Amino acid sequence: MTDLGTRYLGLDLRSPLVASASPLTGTLDGLRRLEDAGAAAVVLPSLFEEQLTHEALEIDRILATGAESFPEALSYFPEMRDYNTGPDRYLELVARAKEALAIPVIPSLNGVTPGGWVHHATLLEEAGADAIELNVYLVATDPEVSGAEVERRYLEVVGSVRAAVRIPLAVKVGPFFSSIPAMAREMVAAGADGLVLFNRFYQPDLDLETLDVVPHLVLSGSDELRLPLRWIAILHGNVGCSLAATTGVHTAEDALKVLLAGADVAMTTSALLRHGPDHLRRVQASMAEWLDDHEYDSVAQLRGSVSRRAAADPAAYERANYLRTLASYSSTFVV
Ligand SMILES: Cc1cc2nc3c(=O)[nH]c(=O)nc-3n(C[C@H](O)[C@H](O)[C@H](O)COP(=O)(O)O)c2cc1C
Repeated sequence: MTDLGTRYLGLDLRSPLVASASPLTGTLDGLRRLEDAGAAAVVLPSLFEEQLTHEALEIDRILATGAESFPEALSYFPEMRDYNTGPDRYLELVARAKEALAIPVIPSLNGVTPGGWVHHATLLEEAGADAIELNVYLVATDPEVSGAEVERRYLEVVGSVRAAVRIPLAVKVGPFFSSIPAMAREMVAAGADGLVLFNRFYQPDLDLETLDVVPHLVLSGSDELRLPLRWIAILHGNVGCSLAATTGVHTAEDALKVLLAGADVAMTTSALLRHGPDHLRRVQASMAEWLDDHEYDSVAQLRGSVSRRAAADPAAYERANYLRTLASYSSTFVV
């Protein structure tokens, strides 16, 4: 039988299929269902720097003004209370998930500045987390701040979380760097044991009637896989850390492609929200069947075999492909 096992962040996983952060991983029931369906590890929804900083400010304010002001304070972040349970309940979820599950439990912190909130990483470690995923969701909007300064801020946040914990640290980032490989190496040097590629930056929309800027969350499709696929293929063997693919992993084919490119794990969210946790069972069965049909003994044997370094045509991942892509269109174009 094909060995689906893989290693991610120094953790031995029974397969490369990981449930990434979403509301599904935010309850014990959801986590149990994901484990039963075959998830090899789970990433919990993020605790946000804003929540942690807000809580610290509130404690100061309550101490200064009296506890009667607390209910009012609670109304500041209603949308966050709907999304996750708040810092204390979050720690409780980590501890309970660790008791209930045999697979690794990876809580997630989302932050953009080093600060007091980073202390929460230590609390997550104490609660039993197997690793931490740090999501740096930073949208650079200030024309006074250069790309180099933005990158310095990323590295500072990574370094501050690294300093707070001994457990493995994965860093989830978007694709908007001038040099992804150089930045990847710097994040490893700052303490990342793994990179989760890539964050999906949600684009707000405009409501033409109210003229409000409204959030607009659309689940991904398999066509979005090609961005992480390409960069994982380029990074494989060039950075000394684990690589996780996120965005666009919906099917067994998608997962196999990112493994061939060099990912250690394939993370999935939209497909699980759309089809439910049992979808993982089908994806894993189809993956095993494909590996068997193609005479692979293990995932390890397959991993990275079509990375940029290993590919018969490395240029296909690079600029030369641009010309070929354009040419391929004109040769098939029919009016
Ligand atoms: C409803 C929803 C909630 C999410 N919450 C988080 C979160 O709290 N932290 C995080 O790092 N990513 C979060 N994500 C992003 C997913 O973990 C994942 O990276 C993204 O959806 C791309 O993967 P996919 O194509 O498999 O959906 C969320 C995604 C969705 C759809």
